[in-house]
Amino acid sequence: MSNYHIKHLEEYFQVYRKAIRNPEGFWEEIAEEHFLWRKKWDKVLEWDFTKPEVKWFQGAKLNITENCIDRHLTIRRDKTAIIFEPNDPNEKAQHITYGELHEKVCKMANVLKENGIKKGDRVCIYLPMIPELAISVLACARIGAIHSVVFAGFSSSALATRINDSDCKLVLTSDGSYRGNKTIDLKGIVDTALDYCPDVETVLVAKRINSDITMKKGRDKWLAPLLKDASNDCPAEIMDAEDMLFILYTSGSTGKPKGMVHTCGGYMVFTAYTFKNIFQYKKDDVYWCTADIGWITGHSYIVYGPLANGATTVMFEGVPSYPDYGRFWEIVEKHKVNQFYTAPTAIRALAKENLEFVEKHDLSSLKVLGTVGEPINEDAWHWYNYNVGKNRSPIVDTWWQTETGGIMISPMPYVTPTIPTFATLPFIGVQPALMDENGNELEGNQVEGRLCIKFPWPSIARTIWGNHERYRDTYFSAYKNMYFTGDGASRDAVGYYRITGRVDDVIIVSGHNLGTAPIEDSINEHPAVAESAIVGFPHDIKGNALYGYVILKEAGEVREKDDLRKEINQQITEHIGPIAKLDKIQFVPGLPKTRSGKIMRRILRKIAGKDASDLGDISTLLNPEVVEEIKKNAL
Ligand code: WTA
Repeated sequence: MSNYHIKHLEEYFQVYRKAIRNPEGFWEEIAEEHFLWRKKWDKVLEWDFTKPEVKWFQGAKLNITENCIDRHLTIRRDKTAIIFEPNDPNEKAQHITYGELHEKVCKMANVLKENGIKKGDRVCIYLPMIPELAISVLACARIGAIHSVVFAGFSSSALATRINDSDCKLVLTSDGSYRGNKTIDLKGIVDTALDYCPDVETVLVAKRINSDITMKKGRDKWLAPLLKDASNDCPAEIMDAEDMLFILYTSGSTGKPKGMVHTCGGYMVFTAYTFKNIFQYKKDDVYWCTADIGWITGHSYIVYGPLANGATTVMFEGVPSYPDYGRFWEIVEKHKVNQFYTAPTAIRALAKENLEFVEKHDLSSLKVLGTVGEPINEDAWHWYNYNVGKNRSPIVDTWWQTETGGIMISPMPYVTPTIPTFATLPFIGVQPALMDENGNELEGNQVEGRLCIKFPWPSIARTIWGNHERYRDTYFSAYKNMYFTGDGASRDAVGYYRITGRVDDVIIVSGHNLGTAPIEDSINEHPAVAESAIVGFPHDIKGNALYGYVILKEAGEVREKDDLRKEINQQITEHIGPIAKLDKIQFVPGLPKTRSGKIMRRILRKIAGKDASDLGDISTLLNPEVVEEIKKNAL
């Protein structure tokens, strides 16, 4: 019998060691006993980080939706698979059973097929958190189409870039979305984007807000009538374990977003196995992850991981502050949520509000609390532990990335003793290493370095869509034979890991990865701007906020600085989305640069963080005099 469900610390250590000694044997056992395969693999693992190439379960055949839906039908057809909780608390929640989900996914899959989508085609999904989002993700997987979900908060130009990069033929969207007391014109954003996407043939539109939108003839179709007429029988496409399942874009420190590619077999095994253990999910539990399916957290831990375990997973359309700051806790009480998984930025925002919002709700159903997306600060951890968990529910601080597909370092609740701000121990099969700047591994405990992973795990991203070289350069070139995460971490006296944050030019704002380069590119397009540099600075709620240093063109017309600030932020909103707006913009005469012309962000970060007393040796800079000037006028 495999160790599918780990129940205590000794067992964790024992299974961890077993999986390190014989990774192939271990994962083979898990895969064999807990999943439905149409054909078994010829080889469990083949890998070479120098190429880089990783293949799990080669030769195996499967369809992930048979694992997430069909195989549950005999024993839990009437169990709720998805609870949809709408934005407006007065609108009734929907309970979609596994039987209904099967029917809805098959119908949607047939609609996609009728619109020319076949195995291997890319489908862009730009939908709010409504059931159609989860259903269309699964429908793509059903027929072997590769889904590329784009978070419905991205702007039209960010959407167009993503559609074109992976050549999507079809876009799924809605007439609009609700967000608190606002509505957003999603279809309008899609229309603007598609002016730049000549290859999109079809747009399928779900009706959500009943707004008056224009439908382009020959391209746009309402989804509902097509679904109504579609057959509810859609045999699953049989996929190779290494066939692509989806593309999900994540920001890089340079250039355009990276389309991370995940494949079917390994991703399924790892997300399902981590879900079971990291949330200690039991048969009748109700699990809720507050993320959006537009991010990896939603892919792995709202859709695939929970459904592969036959779980009940909550999808929430709204925001934590509407109609008031008690909304999360009201939902926990209403659906008797047992596992609750959210982001530190949400916790910090809620911790600022009156405690009554928490206290007036019965949270006694909660057994496990989780966080993801950025380091959780100690205050937020204690607030969460005390007020939400009542000191009874362990907090799992889960570290992972879009690239890793599933959770990599995390406690298991009721198994691993937790310490605030520590992600604690590597998950089964995960082999972290801390490296110094010279490329040497730091052995032993009480060390701090750059976080790498030494050995492949089943859900590692296999490539960047259309750019394998960039995949190699970004993740496998910094350290020989290692996957480099881009994060720094320390290991304490007992071997617990604590993530210290990004060591590259990615900034995490409210849990969202933002690369400096695309934001700087956007600013630099403003006619008055000569050059710019972005850094993060500490922010109470967002964790980090963005600080922009902007050099204006000398000969430009004289303008009000505040107008310029507004215009710059407006431009960023249009190019990327409101999440990338700058909190502070300082106009500067120059940027500190090394003699080779590289911007010294370290100095700018210190000034932005009001920690400029010791900037180290700046005499080697090309233009040390500019530093004083920037310091003097810092915001
Ligand atoms: C950060 C989100 C500290 C980290 C699943 C990582 C974290 C990046 C944690 C990936 C955590 C995520 N503690 N930092 N528990 N979880 N991060 O791709 O910097 O959106 O590299 O994936 O978020 O963000 P991504």
